[in-house]
Amino acid sequence: MPGRRISQGSMATWFALAMAAMVMMGEPSHALPSNSFLGNLANLYHKSVAVSPLATHCLQGAGIAGLGDLCSQFIEKEKRVSSGRIARASATGVFYNGLLLPYYYDAIQGVFPSRKPVFVLIKVLIDSFLWGFFGNFSLVAVRRYLEGSPAVESVRYAQSVIWPVFKSDFTVWTTYNALCYGAIPREYQPLSTAVVSAMWSTYISFISTSGLPK
Ligand SMILES: *[C@@H]1O[C@H](CO)[C@@H](O)[C@H](O)[C@H]1NC(C)=O
Repeated sequence: MPGRRISQGSMATWFALAMAAMVMMGEPSHALPSNSFLGNLANLYHKSVAVSPLATHCLQGAGIAGLGDLCSQFIEKEKRVSSGRIARASATGVFYNGLLLPYYYDAIQGVFPSRKPVFVLIKVLIDSFLWGFFGNFSLVAVRRYLEGSPAVESVRYAQSVIWPVFKSDFTVWTTYNALCYGAIPREYQPLSTAVVSAMWSTYISFISTSGLPK
């Protein structure tokens, strides 16, 4: 499908541009001023995590998945934006990022509390298998099912795309994590992670709904 290839190419370009912008933000002279818009946003985020982590994560998950789906609808050049589709995407965001992910982090820290390099490596591998592979596999299947594809076909479709998805996952998130350690200042990280997650969720929306009857 040539159309699909062009869209994936343009997505890769956007991703590269965003990465470049983040590296530029990483210059020490651009540290987040506390009275700026971004500074206030970061403060608000920290406060809200402190007051109610559950609500914050659910809202964040919904927002990121919803925004990702909206972007995907633009890339797909939908004639009318489907708010139902955005709502269904947001619901998966609440479930995976708001409800599952925090439990997972607690559980994995409980099993491997050590910060020794070998345990960090084990945790990274488990993360990548459970979330990068299995999480995204189930997300694609669920998203497709919610958009009206029968259950068995949704799972088959997820099977057929999981390898390219996993490869993209590996490239995108390894690059981003390296940037986080190397270039992006700590104050920017919640925001930059949200931006990359929204792009990731655009990609997943795009893959999940590709080829479905309109
Ligand atoms: C998909 O993979 C990324 C990166 O590994 C991960 O952050 C995200 O949580 C995964 N999505 C789901 C729904 O598991």
